[in-house]
Order: sequence, then structure tokens, then C-alpha cells
Amino acid sequence: MTTQDFLGKENYNISSQTIAESCPSNIALIKYWGKYKDQIPANPSISYTLNHCKTNTKVEFFANEPFSVQTFLAGNEEHKFAEKIEKYFRSIEQYLPWILKGKYIIKTENTFPHSSGIASSASGFGAIAKCLMNLDETFSGKTSEEESLKKASFLARLGSGSACRSLYNGLVVWGESDEIEGSSDLFAIKYSDEEIHSVFKDFNDWVLLIHEGVKSVSSTVGHGLMNTNPYAERRFQEARENFVPMKEILKSGDMNSFIKLVEHEALTLHAMMMMSDPAFILMKTGTLEVINKIWDFRRETSLPLFFTLDAGANVHLLFPNDGSEDKIKTFIESELLQYTQKNGVVKDVMKF
Ligand code: PMV
Repeated sequence: MTTQDFLGKENYNISSQTIAESCPSNIALIKYWGKYKDQIPANPSISYTLNHCKTNTKVEFFANEPFSVQTFLAGNEEHKFAEKIEKYFRSIEQYLPWILKGKYIIKTENTFPHSSGIASSASGFGAIAKCLMNLDETFSGKTSEEESLKKASFLARLGSGSACRSLYNGLVVWGESDEIEGSSDLFAIKYSDEEIHSVFKDFNDWVLLIHEGVKSVSSTVGHGLMNTNPYAERRFQEARENFVPMKEILKSGDMNSFIKLVEHEALTLHAMMMMSDPAFILMKTGTLEVINKIWDFRRETSLPLFFTLDAGANVHLLFPNDGSEDKIKTFIESELLQYTQKNGVVKDVMKF
């Protein structure tokens, strides 16, 4: 498929509407870090969609009013976010030709703490894209659920790259990979549930809130720094190559190899940041303390507790519900919570 396949229909009939949609966040296992023009990823990525951390969004569309956007986050008016959405709407007019023909009031709230480092841009743009597709079908006629989700994923990508993966549950792939049939740089696809061992279908993601402030370097700037990073090409190649073992692992249920690969991906993401010019470090002392504690715990118990990191200091603690979870939860509560700012932990699960 090409971008042309997503152009909007010229025949539409607009009316004032109120739409509400909800979309979860996601956490990448093979990371997307580095992109080309028009939000084309430099390498494919795969993520888990979370079950509980979501953005709920209500869009009120007032047809035939001058184009404007007003946004509210948890009841508070957010001018910066409104500017961002206004720019985004202008950029997607060719895909939704009616989009600038009215006024918007957008009310959005996250079910997880603000600034927790959980990707609110992923769930946020995912929810907005779903609202837009809902409006599009009201104005231009219904399409199949599959087509509608694909276009929502395409539109979400143009808002925030990783958002395109939040449209599907379970494991989700974005970016062209020889290993994944049907994969595309333009939208995400669901990784076939049949190709996943049961141990990976009931997993915990507990996010330790090590640092709740605003990040020192945004992901937009971070992606941009990959353009001049001397290790970038090797990294993109490695991410592509990592799909080969990942497929095998997901099928066989090989937990040790999964742990090794997922932790390697997280550390590589942060290594890329440290090797950028200018260099930057998003991990905090607590991040490193927790990583070392996890490694000690694994050496001592052989239990499957491991981590991944997003572009931030917080640690995503991953562990399966395979009978070992009670011991792991006790360890987290007694040994790891001390590294958080306010005993902050967001407990999510990926069950499908
Ligand atoms: O979607 P963005 O532009 O915020 O990029 C996010 C990239 C990471 O979260 C660091 C990795 C990923 O694949 O989600």
C-alpha cells in the first residue's frame, strides 16, 4: 500500500457531532528510535499494548464554523496541546478533506499519572485518530472495521510514530520487516496471536516512577539526533535483524532469550542517546540501581523478572503470570519501591 491509498473521499456530508473514544498506551520490545521524513521509521519495531493505561478522548465537532481547536487535559485548558493538534489537523487534510471545516473542542484524560513517562502521546494520538475515523465514517460512509483501523493507525502515526501501534491489542508491529508478512512503514499491524506462546499472552508491566518531571530531551529531538549518530545505521540494521530471533522466541516461549533480547534493546536505545552529539542521558541514579537489583535478583532466584525502558528514567518491570509472580511482586514491593519518587508504581498487564 502507498500513501495514495489513504487519500480521503471527495464526497462527504458534514454535521455537528460528539464522539468519544479510548485508546491504550504501548511499550516497545524492539525499539523505534530514528526516523525519516513524514514519520517513516528507520527500523521496524514491536510492542505490547497495555490493558489499563489509556487515554479517553471526547471530540465535539461544530460543523461549518471557522476552523479552531480548543483542548482540555483532565479539565484544564491546554493551549500548547491545542496548537499541536491544530498543526496536526492541517497536516492531514488530504486524508480527511472535511477536517478544517469546523471547530473542535477536545477533552482528554489519561487513566495513568501525568508525566509518568508512560507514553501519553501514543494513547493520546491513538484516541484522537479513532475519533477522526469515527467522524470520517459518519461524513463519508462506512468502511470495513479492518480498513478503518488501518487508516486510524496511519493517521495516528502522523501524530506520533509509536501511536500507530496502540490501535491493536496484543503484540503489534510497525515498520517494514522481511520477517513479518504485511508489515508496513505507513501503519502498524497486529502480530498473529497464533504465533505467540501462551507464556507471552499474560504478562505484567509494572512501571516504577523513578522520575516524574518533564524529560530533559523530547523524543522528537532524540529521533533527530540519530541523523548524525555514527552508530545509527548499525543500530537500524540490528533492530531489523532482531526480528529473526524475536519470532522464534515468541513461538517457542524461550523466556531466557526473550529477557536477553528485550533488555538489550532497552540498553541500546539509551546507549544511542549517550552516543549522540550532543550526548544526553535520560536514566537517573535510581534507574541504574533498579537494573542492578533486577540482575542480582535473577542471579539469585532464576525468576523471570526483567526490564525495558522508554525514552525516560522510569523502569518498566516485565514478568509473566506463570506462577512465579507472587514472589516477584513481593520483591518489587520490598526492594524496588524505595527508588521511586513517591512510592510510585503503575501496575498494568498485557493479557490477550
Ligand atoms: O512515538 P515517539 O516519537 O514518541 O517515539 C517513541 C520512541 C520510543 O518510545 C523510545 C520507542 C518506541 O518504539 O516506542
